[in-house]
Amino acid sequence: MSLNTRLRRIRQTQSIRELFQENDWNYKDLIMPFFVVEGTGIKETIPSLPGIYRYSIDCLLKELEQPFYQEIGGILLFGVPSVKDLQGTAAWSKEGIIQQACRQIKSQFPELVIITDLCLCSYTTHGHCGIVTGDGKVDNDQTLELLGRIALAQAEAGSDIIAPSDMMDGRVAKIRTELDQGGFADRLILSYAAKFASSFYGPFREAADSTPQFGDRRSYQLPPANRREALREMAADVNEGADIIMVKPGLPYLDILREARDQFKLPLAVYNVSGEYAMVKAAAINGWINEEQVVCEIMTGFKRAGADLIITYHAKDLYNWRNQ
Ligand code: PBG
Repeated sequence: MSLNTRLRRIRQTQSIRELFQENDWNYKDLIMPFFVVEGTGIKETIPSLPGIYRYSIDCLLKELEQPFYQEIGGILLFGVPSVKDLQGTAAWSKEGIIQQACRQIKSQFPELVIITDLCLCSYTTHGHCGIVTGDGKVDNDQTLELLGRIALAQAEAGSDIIAPSDMMDGRVAKIRTELDQGGFADRLILSYAAKFASSFYGPFREAADSTPQFGDRRSYQLPPANRREALREMAADVNEGADIIMVKPGLPYLDILREARDQFKLPLAVYNVSGEYAMVKAAAINGWINEEQVVCEIMTGFKRAGADLIITYHAKDLYNWRNQ
C-alpha cells in the first residue's frame, strides 16, 4: 500500500460509499420457509419463532397471494403430518401434506418456485431422519430407498427443487437416478451438503415436531468442529449430481461458506436457521438491537461470504421494512 493511501477517502459521503460497495443482497436471493399442517383454517403461532406460523394449505394459499411472494426467489416447504409411523409413510404418500400443498400451490401460482425439504424426521415416530434398526442405529441404505420414493412423490406433485436434508451417504445419487428414471430429469436437487449437528435447530424442531425421541443426530450430521469433513461432504454431493449445495446453519459457519465458494463452481445456498432467527427476534423484542439494521447486516454477511441464495425466516420482514 502506498504511503499516500487514505482509505477514508472512499468513505466520505453516502454516494461515494455506494460507489465502492462490494456486496449487496436482493429479494430474488431470498427463500422463505413454511411449515404446512393438515386441516383447514389454521394459522398457528410458534412461540420460539415470532412472526412465523404453521399454515394449513388453504391459509398458505391466501398468504401466497401477497405481492411479496412474486419478489422473492421461492419458498421452501416443510410438512408437519398429523399421523406418523416407523417408516414415515406420509412423506411419500400421494395424499401426504407436502404433495397436496405442491399440487395446489402449482395450480394457483405456477410461476412460484417451490423447494421441498426431503427428510423423514417429522414423519417418523422416533423423529430420526432415517430407518431405525433394532439396535437403535439409523440404517443408511434402507433409508435411501425411502428417500428415492419421497423425491418421486414430491416431483410428481410439482416440486421444482428437491432438497434432501437427511445427511445419508449417497442420497443425492439415489435421488438423481430415481428422478431421471421417473421422467423428472428437469427437477433440481438442492442438497443440504454441509449440515452440521447444531443446537441452533431447536425452534424448528418445535415447529415441525421433529425432535429425535432418543439419542441425537450426530451419527449423520457433521461435527461443528470439522471443516475438512464438511468440504468432503460437499465434494461428494457435487460428484453425485447436486445442482445447488448448501451450508447450514449460517452465522457460525461463514468460514465454510467462503471455502465452499472458493472450491466449487456450483450455486451456493446458506440456511439462516431457526435458532439464529429466534436470537435476533428475542433481542429485538427486548429493544436491545435495531432489528432491521441487524438483519440487513446478516444478509450482507452471507453474500460477502459467498452465498447465492439465502433461506431465511426474515425474508418477509426484509420486504415489509422497505415496502411499507
Ligand atoms: C430436517 C431439518 C431440520 C432443519 C431443516 N431440515 C432440523 C434437524 O435436522 O433437526 C432445521 C432448520 C432450522 O432450524 O430452521 N432434517
